[in-house]
Amino acid sequence: MSSKLVLPPHVLIFPLPAQGHINSMLDLAQLLCLSHFHVTFIVSEFDHQRLLKAAAFAGYPGFRFQTIPDHDHPRAGDRRMDVFASAVKFMGSCFKKMMLEKDVFASSERRAVTCVIADGMFGFAADFAEETGIPLIYFRTISACAFWVYFCADRLIQANEMPFQGNGRDELVKSVPGMEGFLRCRDLPSFCRVDDTNDRLLREISNLTKQSTVRANAVVMNTFEDLEQPVLSNISKHMPRLYTIGPGKMHLKSRLNVDASIPCTSLWAEDRNCIDWLNAQEPKSVIYVSFGSITTVTREQLLEFWHGLVNSQQKFLWVMRPDSITGGGDCGRVPVELDKGTKENGYMVEWAPQEEVLNHPAVGGFLTHSGWNSTLESIVAGVPMICWPYFGDQMINSRFVSEVWKIGLDIKDTCDRVVIENAVRELMEVRNDEFLERANRLAKMAKMATSEGGSSHCNLNGLVEYISSLVI
Ligand code: UDX
Repeated sequence: MSSKLVLPPHVLIFPLPAQGHINSMLDLAQLLCLSHFHVTFIVSEFDHQRLLKAAAFAGYPGFRFQTIPDHDHPRAGDRRMDVFASAVKFMGSCFKKMMLEKDVFASSERRAVTCVIADGMFGFAADFAEETGIPLIYFRTISACAFWVYFCADRLIQANEMPFQGNGRDELVKSVPGMEGFLRCRDLPSFCRVDDTNDRLLREISNLTKQSTVRANAVVMNTFEDLEQPVLSNISKHMPRLYTIGPGKMHLKSRLNVDASIPCTSLWAEDRNCIDWLNAQEPKSVIYVSFGSITTVTREQLLEFWHGLVNSQQKFLWVMRPDSITGGGDCGRVPVELDKGTKENGYMVEWAPQEEVLNHPAVGGFLTHSGWNSTLESIVAGVPMICWPYFGDQMINSRFVSEVWKIGLDIKDTCDRVVIENAVRELMEVRNDEFLERANRLAKMAKMATSEGGSSHCNLNGLVEYISSLVI
């Protein structure tokens, strides 16, 4: 019997070159390696150099990185969508060229690619699948609730709910089934805040989302049924197969041996001194502050957050990436009262081991930009949130945190030191028990979903079976 017959399925996984996308798709890669698949993970040369301890993936015999050329852009702040669009275009052309070299990833130890699992932002992956006949699975790194709003964008336009009329922002939206009672215009994705419904980005993201349901053989999402079920029922009507397998990192831990370590996937160096600082704090006394890997703030916004945190008198651990000031540069001269207040109650790092921080007993709240990975990690850790969304899916995630899951506060479209101070006090003191109780209930549901017999556990088994059925 030829060796080909016994070779396991070989999956190509290709994320958007952004921290949040790389993290969740590396979780899936490791989960498939645990199912004895061969996985080739495509990363840009720029990101591969930054992926610390990439060698740790050598622990998975079936795993290998494949680098691809990339534009080395600052991928943060206001120009993010333009630089990502050009990176996607460039990487798409490199990908097609690489794949057209016959069996570029096949060898005596690896069969030719069984299927491609591509980031849902890669429209070129659907073209490639149709040209080559290689099955395509899309991985959407955003929440199901955000995906559903993206999917319904054309309904909003047809119902004349966009652009916003009248007082706009606080009007309830009626054209997203299941969200009629609480979704306001201001909670729509940031790319809906346009005057012209032919806006390029709006059209692109709307078309990409609609296509991902019909041009791919299946869609995978990093969420779990108990968290987003009503929305998931609506979505699954529009696609052949939907596999919800999240929360990814929790799922991975549930399938690994207890003493197994999970490789670090940070693109920045993690400053572990913050763990020593947390060890010296009282339980649930610290609010963790991080706005993800893309958000930037102006110096004025930074000072509003800083004054609000210091005036709240709460302990705070704040991640301030080196590229987090809009337009570059640093925060300039620090007012004396902020310097004093930070020395008394605060600790700042450029990048933190976020999941370890969120699960630290000293952390009682999370001031976040509502990126989906951060939101899910906070839910897994049972930590309530204050949401200050910056763009895209974050607008919807923040509304679900405050109005549906009721595990936090949404302060979108504000940036005022008094609002921030009051929100921190409300989350960490006034309503802390109420939020903690609900957050711990959701954390338990996440654990159940990823344990043996849970929805995400069964869905991953289904995904493994489906991919295995594609082997020719
Ligand atoms: C982007 C979009 O912003 C987000 O809305 C979308 O859902 C995914 O792609 P990002 O902005 O990076 O993601 O936010 P998020 O999804 O929260 O991902 C950030 C990741 O970086 C998380 O996994 C978090 O654990 C990690 N992180 C963040 C660190 O490891 N250390 C830090 O200091 C900050």
